[in-house]
Amino acid sequence: MTSQSKTGCFRQFADQMRPVIEAHLDRYSRFGRGCPDRLQAAIRHGLLAPGKRLRPLLVLSAASICGSSPARALPAACAVEMVHAYSLVHDDLPAMDDDDLRRGQPTCHNAFDEATAILAGDALLTRAFEILAHDVKPSELAQRCCLELAQAAGACQLVGGQSDDLAAEQRAGDLATLERIHERKTGAMLVASLRLGAFFGAARDEQLSHLSTYGNRLGLAFQIVDDLLDQTGDPQQTGKRSGQDTQRGKLTFPSLLGVDASRRRARQLVEEAVSVLSSLPGDASILISLAHYVVERNH
Ligand code: IPE
Ligand code: IPE
Ligand code: MG
Ligand code: MG
Ligand code: MG
Repeated sequence: MTSQSKTGCFRQFADQMRPVIEAHLDRYSRFGRGCPDRLQAAIRHGLLAPGKRLRPLLVLSAASICGSSPARALPAACAVEMVHAYSLVHDDLPAMDDDDLRRGQPTCHNAFDEATAILAGDALLTRAFEILAHDVKPSELAQRCCLELAQAAGACQLVGGQSDDLAAEQRAGDLATLERIHERKTGAMLVASLRLGAFFGAARDEQLSHLSTYGNRLGLAFQIVDDLLDQTGDPQQTGKRSGQDTQRGKLTFPSLLGVDASRRRARQLVEEAVSVLSSLPGDASILISLAHYVVERNH
């Protein structure tokens, strides 16, 4: 099968759902009286710039595979994207990766200023939980989503992984350390996206566990490819500067294993992710196709 046909099913789903997700993100990022215009503009700059929307698409795919209509899960899909967008705005700050290009546009602190970018990130993170608490019904489901997302975004997962990523700069590190960083800074949010979606379909524990394993392998593969794109990608396509990881002395897959072995590892992880899906009762074709897209992507 060609890579185009392997990824076609996901691409079709993404083309159909992305405009719906983006219309909701647009609505959710209009704040009422009290929010300064410049702050709202910075929030929308970070959020509405052309991202792949992979995490909200994972929420909607998991909802669908577990028997819920994807539309019911849209607030959760937007909440996850808001946390992700905040993490990017802060990741790019001078105190972190110090990047000037994101999603093909100046990073938030470059387009505005550093304080505004920090505050825009704070507002995006907070808004995510407001959306879950307000728009997910019934309230027990809202609470479950809040807990799952808070844990994935918190000190032991995303934030902890980011902290260790910075601590590992310019230092020798091993594969186990690197995988633990990637699993937390990137993988945890992919796992949470799938689990949130599955909650809408009232998935059983076994289904949740299979989706979590799929998300874990997918997350690791996704970050390996992100590391590869930093070395081999075209900024016109990635919308990010290339070579930043090398310049900052980041611990990455290609720096440890080289390009070819990293690509092989990503492909192997995707095969592992896909094989877990055969145990799920629903139609997993979108998630299978999405996994192939993750390793074949050029942005
Ligand atoms: C970038 O995420 C940050 C990582 C976790 C590697 P994406 O590659 O999903 O970025 P967008 O959302 O499409 O801009
Ligand atoms: C960031 O990883 C992961 C996040 C939690 C945002 P990177 O620092 O490699 O992401 P990019 O390459 O800047 O998008
Ligand atoms: Mg980073
Ligand atoms: Mg970065
Ligand atoms: Mg990167």
